[in-house]
Formats: sequence, C-alpha cells, structure tokens
Amino acid sequence: MRKVALITGVTGQDGSYLSEFLLEKGYDVHGMIRRSSVDYRERIAHLEGRPNFHLHYGDMGDSMSILQVVSKVKPTEIYNLAAQSHVQVSFDSPEFTADVDATGVLRVLEAVRLCGLTQTCRIYQASTSELYGKVEQVPQNEQTPFHPYSPYAVAKLYGFWIVKEYREAYGMYCCSGILFNHESERRGETFVTRKITLAAARIAQGKQDRLLLGNLSSLRDWGYAKDYVECMWLILQQDRPDDFVIATGVQHSVREFCYHAFRRVGIELEFRGEGLDEQGIDKATGRVLVEVSPDFYRPTDVVNLWGDPTKAREILGWNPSRTSFEDLVALMVDHDMAKVAAEGAAAKVRTNLAEYLEKGIVK
Ligand code: NAP
Ligand code: GDD
Repeated sequence: MRKVALITGVTGQDGSYLSEFLLEKGYDVHGMIRRSSVDYRERIAHLEGRPNFHLHYGDMGDSMSILQVVSKVKPTEIYNLAAQSHVQVSFDSPEFTADVDATGVLRVLEAVRLCGLTQTCRIYQASTSELYGKVEQVPQNEQTPFHPYSPYAVAKLYGFWIVKEYREAYGMYCCSGILFNHESERRGETFVTRKITLAAARIAQGKQDRLLLGNLSSLRDWGYAKDYVECMWLILQQDRPDDFVIATGVQHSVREFCYHAFRRVGIELEFRGEGLDEQGIDKATGRVLVEVSPDFYRPTDVVNLWGDPTKAREILGWNPSRTSFEDLVALMVDHDMAKVAAEGAAAKVRTNLAEYLEKGIVK
C-alpha cells in the first residue's frame, strides 16, 4: 500500500509536527510551500534533505499550482492545513482570508476530483472551534450549532460545508477536524499564548518592560499541537469519513495563562482593576508588568470556547489529557527562556515585535 501524504501549510506550526509524525509512520511526505523572497522555513529546516520529505511550490489562491502538485504527487492522503490562520488579521484582510481559507478548500477538492483520485485519496480539512464563535452552547461538541464571529470563521465555515458536500455528492473520503486552540513552542509569535510566553521570558531576563494584551477574560480550551496532529491522522484511518471535535475538555482564561507563564519564570502576578484599567502587578516588586490595550480588542471576539472531546476519545481512541494545561505552559515558557537567553543584542529591538506585527505595519 502506498502511503503518500501531501500537506498544505507544511511550514506552519501543525504542518511541521504532522510532517514529523507521518515520516515516523513511514509515509512519503510532500509539502506545499509558497514562493517568498526570503526562505523562512525554520519549522521544517530539520526535515529538509531527508529522502522521504519533498517540497513543491503552490499557493492556495492558485488552482493550477494545486492541480499540478496533486497530479504529480498522487497522494493517498491530503492534509489541508494551509490558511490565513490569524483571526485578528482576517478583519484587516477579509478578502484574502476568504480566498485562501474558503475557496482554497474548494480548489483542493476539485484538484483531487479532476485528477481522478476521488476513490484513492483521503482528505483532512483543518477546521476550527472558531465556527462556534458567539457560542450557543457550552461545552461545544459535534452537534453544537455554528455561529461564526469573524471573517476567518465565516471562511472556515464554507470550508467545513464544502467538505461535507463533496463527501455526500461524490462519495469522497473527506473530513473536518474541528480543532480547538492548540499551541506549542513553534506557535506563531502573535497568537496570545506565545506572545505571553515570549514576553514572560524577556521580562524575566530584563529585555522587555511590559506586556500589552487585549481581552484578558477570554476563555480557551488550549491543547498541545504535537498531541493534536495524531488526531488528524486518526481521522483519516477510520472505516468511514466523519467530522470530529478535538479538544482537551479543560478551559482557562488569558489571564490564567499569563499568571502561570509568569509564575514559571519566578514572577508571581496579581491582577487588579477591570477592563481597560486591569493590570498584572509583580507581587514582589509592585511593578506593573501586564497592561490592557484597546489595540488588541477585536471588532467581535469569541470569548467562551470549551470543547467536548468525547467522540474523539471513544471512536478514535485519542487521549485528550496527554499534556495538561500546566505542562503546556511550562514547556512553552522553558523553550522561550532558552531562546531569549540566546538572543543577545538584537533582543531589545525585537521587544515589541509581536505587538507591532499584530497591529499591522500600515497602522
Ligand atoms: P500557521 O502556523 O499559521 O500555518 C499556516 C500555514 O498555511 C503556513 O504554512 C502558511 O505558509 C500556509 N499558508 C498561508 N497562506 C497560504 C497560501 N495562500 N498558500 C499556501 N500556503 C499558505 O497555522 P497552524 O496553527 O499550523 O494551523 C494549521 C491549520 O489549522 C490552519 O488552517 C488553521 O486555520 C487551522 N487551525 C489551527 C488551530 C490552532 O489552534 N493552531 C485551531 C484550529 C484550526 P507560510 O509559512 O508561507 O505563511
Ligand atoms: N492574538 C492575541 N493577542 N489575542 C489576544 C490578545 C493579544 O494581545 N489579548 C487577548 N487576546 C485574546 C483574543 O481576543 C482571543 O479571544 C484569545 O486571546 C485567543 O486569541 P489567539 O491566540 O489570537 O487565537 P484565536 O483563538 O483567535 O485563534 C486561534 O485558534 C483558533 C481555534 O479556536 C488560531 O489558531 C485560529 O487559526 C484557530 O482556528
């Protein structure tokens, strides 16, 4: 049996872990990358040069490139992870987000169909808990109604439904994993967890003065990305195609994440005040280390994500509790303490990079 996987979004957090996972399982792994003026492939650099790891140029906005890659690789499994994945950015670039995150999914499905691979190629679509958006039920499971609450979520909703449509219309084995937030030491630096762990490390080492955040009360079900890529694979190994919620079943606030991250670097934070006036204060010194800025509020924010992973546990046999919240925070902070210590002189310049990027260079 050929085991040939094509991963779109191979350079991303999940793409890099999934590549490692599938190579370990004996797959030939093909990744699709987009052309860029700088070669920034840090997350997969350690895999390049391996005999079973191949890269191809393609873009989710370009049907022909996707068609070419699919026809050349003839994958037995496609993991469609490529996306403009930042919710805040989707408010600034809604059309691009729709093209990549919605129409892009259709392009992948059509490429498989046009290449005559509908019966031999299984497809995983990276769907998201953002579909629940302005939540109508807590916790959320596969039966919970969707209520997308950002341009990103609306685009991903199209992806979810077009996958379902192709499954029913053409009998294709295509599925969506409705994944709740998953983080890691490879997480992009503008997502809230990584922004916090990097800031905690820099503040502890005297390379940053304070951390500016948005909604501290937002609640998330945070898991470890390395655990979640196993589910993507499991979803494609079932007798019949189906959609699954993947989550830990445990919920924490952004404020709690902050508290644990700073505690890991030896700083005990106390939060005082409310809304824009809330501050995270170092109990030992009285210094204000965390402040709230309206710059990081979203036009509409999803504030109560909490997944119910019962179906994944029972049908896929997946363990949602492998990495606890505390362990996740610790592994990210420890990684960033070492990274920041190695940064040297350039560190000060990068101090507010995450904030700068997130606000957008045009503002
Ligand atoms: P990520 O780190 O932002 O990676 C996104 C990947 O998509 C990158 O490889 C990026 O390439 C690629 N990409 C973006 N636009 C593209 C385009 N036009 N053509 C080709 N490739 C493009 O995201 P992630 O955290 O790994 O998430 C993977 C997928 O899961 C995404 O679809 C995301 O929406 C979804 N998801 C993530 C989470 C989570 O908590 N992480 C939860 C639910 C769903 P570059 O490196 O060139 O930018
Ligand atoms: N990014 C960011 N930066 N978020 C902040 C900040 C900040 O300074 N302050 C508070 N938050 C809040 C956001 O308002 C949001 O409610 C929450 O922290 C999480 O934000 P992100 O880490 O940016 O992730 P997300 O939940 O919006 O989106 C991620 O998870 C989705 C799954 O639920 C992304 O990975 C999406 O691609 C994914 O689909």
